[in-house]
Amino acid sequence: MSVHQEIKKVSTQTFQSMKNNGEKIAMLTSYDYSVAKLVDAAGIDAILVGDSAANVMSGYPTTLPITVDEMIYFAASVVRAVNRAMVVVDMPFGSYQGDPHVAVKNAVRIMKETGAQAVKIEGGIEIEDSFKAILSAGIPIMGHLGLTPQSINKFGGFGLRAKDDAEAKTLLENAKLLQDLGCFSVVLEKIPTVLAKQVTDSLSIPTIGIGAGNVCDGQVLVFHDMVGMNEGFKPKFLRQYANVGQVIREAVSGYVADVKSGDFPNESESY
Ligand code: KIV
Repeated sequence: MSVHQEIKKVSTQTFQSMKNNGEKIAMLTSYDYSVAKLVDAAGIDAILVGDSAANVMSGYPTTLPITVDEMIYFAASVVRAVNRAMVVVDMPFGSYQGDPHVAVKNAVRIMKETGAQAVKIEGGIEIEDSFKAILSAGIPIMGHLGLTPQSINKFGGFGLRAKDDAEAKTLLENAKLLQDLGCFSVVLEKIPTVLAKQVTDSLSIPTIGIGAGNVCDGQVLVFHDMVGMNEGFKPKFLRQYANVGQVIREAVSGYVADVKSGDFPNESESY
């Protein structure tokens, strides 16, 4: 490809065409420049700068502590790396659950200071006014239903959601509401496949699954989990594509051994 040939950026319209044409959407998280560059070049359709950064980048046990400023720092680094993928940024806990004016102010900051294409928000009818305020500012929203990790203290654990009829009914109603409000897609996390199919079939916008079976219009995974850098985290829904943790350990222990023995640097590595 010539350097002048334009790469067609994935947009919310591309997402919709992919659903309409039955082409699955591939999404992964990234939080930094170097990884995002590799992920984008490998052909991913969308990058989520997830608030899972709180876990895999910062070592917190939940996603609750991460701030808008921290999300902006991670997201701006990702946007600088990406040519083709759509970049979606999670709005962190506390940045949209209250006053809709505050929600839209935070969403505008994220869009202005990162250059991302959309935000993602966990929840349904209980934060309808925040959805409306942000959408009315022209900011595309990816919804997120099912296991919404910002509500972990309400759920009491990271188990499967919407197993019973009442929660499944509420989830379906919320998914339809998000579509009616104008969200361009919705993440379905850790729900039964049969429910994910019902939601996917009843929406015209794409669903993106994680732990929701292969019936969704796309899939998302946390990068560190799927390359084997988050060792010990092996939920049933995760497929591990590499063992990068092992590769890094071997590289570092080789370096330590070479420094200790005086083998590194050798003559050809010196001036
Ligand atoms: O923060 C995140 O990485 C997410 C995905 C797991 C969907 O929300």
